[in-house]
Amino acid sequence: MTAPAILVEHVRKSFGEVTALDDVSFKVERGEVFALLGRNGAGKTSTVRILTTNSTPDAGRAEVLGLDTVRQAAQVRNRIGLTGQYAAVDDNLTGRENLRLIGRLTHVPRRELADRVDGLLDRFGLTEVADRPVKGYSGGTRRRLDVASALVHKPPVLFLDEPTTGLDLESRLALWDMVKELVAEGTAVLLTTQYLEEADRLAQQIAVIDGGRVVAEGSPAELKAKVGASVVEIGFAQEELVRQAADLLTRLEGSAPQREGTVLRLNADDGAAATMRAMTILDAHSLMPTTLALREPSLDDAFLALTAHTGESA
Ligand SMILES: Nc1ncnc2c1ncn2[C@@H]1O[C@H](COP(=O)(O)OP(=O)(O)O)[C@@H](O)[C@H]1O
Ligand SMILES: [Mg+2]
Repeated sequence: MTAPAILVEHVRKSFGEVTALDDVSFKVERGEVFALLGRNGAGKTSTVRILTTNSTPDAGRAEVLGLDTVRQAAQVRNRIGLTGQYAAVDDNLTGRENLRLIGRLTHVPRRELADRVDGLLDRFGLTEVADRPVKGYSGGTRRRLDVASALVHKPPVLFLDEPTTGLDLESRLALWDMVKELVAEGTAVLLTTQYLEEADRLAQQIAVIDGGRVVAEGSPAELKAKVGASVVEIGFAQEELVRQAADLLTRLEGSAPQREGTVLRLNADDGAAATMRAMTILDAHSLMPTTLALREPSLDDAFLALTAHTGESA
């Protein structure tokens, strides 16, 4: 049996008083995009640092392609690509020079290197700026070069730690396309993100991490089935109305809405229809809301919905 691309088993990591990872386990199959989805401080980078041999677990173990990240660290490093960290880009060199330099450092055969670099520049839309110094690049262009630099030695496993945070929409879409192409060629990708939408678009499997623990895991469809496709928020002027409305909506939808102050929140698969049903029944009971909003679920909504049943929400 071939080993999975990534295996994390019961990993713990503390920094002094802070528990960054508290018994984290997950598995990434070869050729799969796996998203580690969580807010700032959830433990995403701590996980990536252990898997990329830049940090060691206090307990538990991590493997890449069956290789232990502590005992076989050098072999792991030869098989992975990581954006943003050790593939650091030199500002004074051009994009092309940077990629060639990384190729030499990672022992790409000399006769293959020029073609490989040209191919990456082309695929990442960098051909036009390839011979300009990196210091003049925009943020999005620099990020694309950063990802390209992680791919020079064709790693079978790629780590992307929040690759699109801070990027404009166009650069984000371009990066998403690149990730999809890589995966079509068989690269396994561990992506960390704060964006539910990003995990949904790219990943076959998602682990939601919060406070150093995996609080939910599944395919995007499985997680969305729990969160709902949209969120309906209905606000009232008075406490008394909220209570009555919550009772009605619980009976209507079969589950209790979340309540925050005088706002009730419904997670629904059929947002518009759910809104209509709610308004109809509230109107029939003369419970007039003061505010009404229908929107896509945010990461916070996902956490509320996904952690509601585990009893582990903060
Ligand atoms: N080197 C460190 N020293 C002290 N605390 C750290 C260190 N690295 C991470 N932490 C803490 O561990 C927790 C998880 O951090 P991190 O893995 O960087 O989260 P994320 O990448 O999801 O934002 C946070 O509370 C963070 O402050
Ligand atoms: Mg981080």
